Amino acid sequence: MGGISEHTHNAEDPLAGLHIPRHVAVIMDGNGRWAEERGLPRLAGHVEGRKATRRVVEAALDFGLQALSVYAFSMENWRRPLDEVEGLMELMQTAMTEEMDDLRSNKVRVLVSGRRAELPKALNDVLEFAIQETAQNTRMTFNLLIDYGGRAEIVDAARRFAEEVQAGRAQPADLDEESFPGLLYAPDLPDPDLIIRPGGEKRISNFLLWEGAYAEYVFLDVLWPDFDREHLLEAIRDYSKRQRRFGALTEPE
Ligand code: IPE
Ligand code: IPE
Ligand code: MG
Repeated sequence: MGGISEHTHNAEDPLAGLHIPRHVAVIMDGNGRWAEERGLPRLAGHVEGRKATRRVVEAALDFGLQALSVYAFSMENWRRPLDEVEGLMELMQTAMTEEMDDLRSNKVRVLVSGRRAELPKALNDVLEFAIQETAQNTRMTFNLLIDYGGRAEIVDAARRFAEEVQAGRAQPADLDEESFPGLLYAPDLPDPDLIIRPGGEKRISNFLLWEGAYAEYVFLDVLWPDFDREHLLEAIRDYSKRQRRFGALTEPE
């Protein structure tokens, strides 16, 4: 089933002896509370949260992850006040623009998952540019989930398949658990091995419903703006202790 690589032993290596997940996904939560605790506007928490995202991308590169997915804006987040939504849109556009050089030099491939039709054009343009510019990079994939909903992703996939059938290019029996993921937003990413939710809430909030079917979950109380490489390491340590049986009695080879 893969998803696991044993790190070589080395006294100074914090990863020594750990199973490193191939794909880690993060529900970046707690920005608003971080700001409220300091008497600051919620947006200040999002600005600080952006720095945490940067730290985690750097750590993910150092740890040798193949893929890092981050949940930046859910379809449900449109229900927030307009000024917060607009602030988040601007922040995501600025962040993506400013990070391009480092993403390029670190050989990171950018993917964006989500419906995206409702996003401001300027943001969609920056995202499209990032995807095109980094398409050939192979060191790590950074999958940014924006205007994303797990149920919507499954519905969109089902719709696309229905269109294929209607056009005579596919038969209903062609669809199975092997072929269906090919219709999802990021068809070439392996399923996340580890899903981390900081911020204290213990729920999925419509995140990677199909892909996370057999993920290991780690919930941390730390608020996202305070999240750093040590928290990622702590989650990987926790992950590393777990036995992933996938329904069998032992771990697959
Ligand atoms: C960030 O945390 C997640 C986003 C939707 C951008 P929140 O804004 O949900 O922070 P809390 O949960 O209110 O603290
Ligand atoms: C989940 O966080 C969405 C993102 C992190 C982008 P929310 O703060 O929106 O989730 P709920 O509302 O607590 O479920
Ligand atoms: Mg929240």
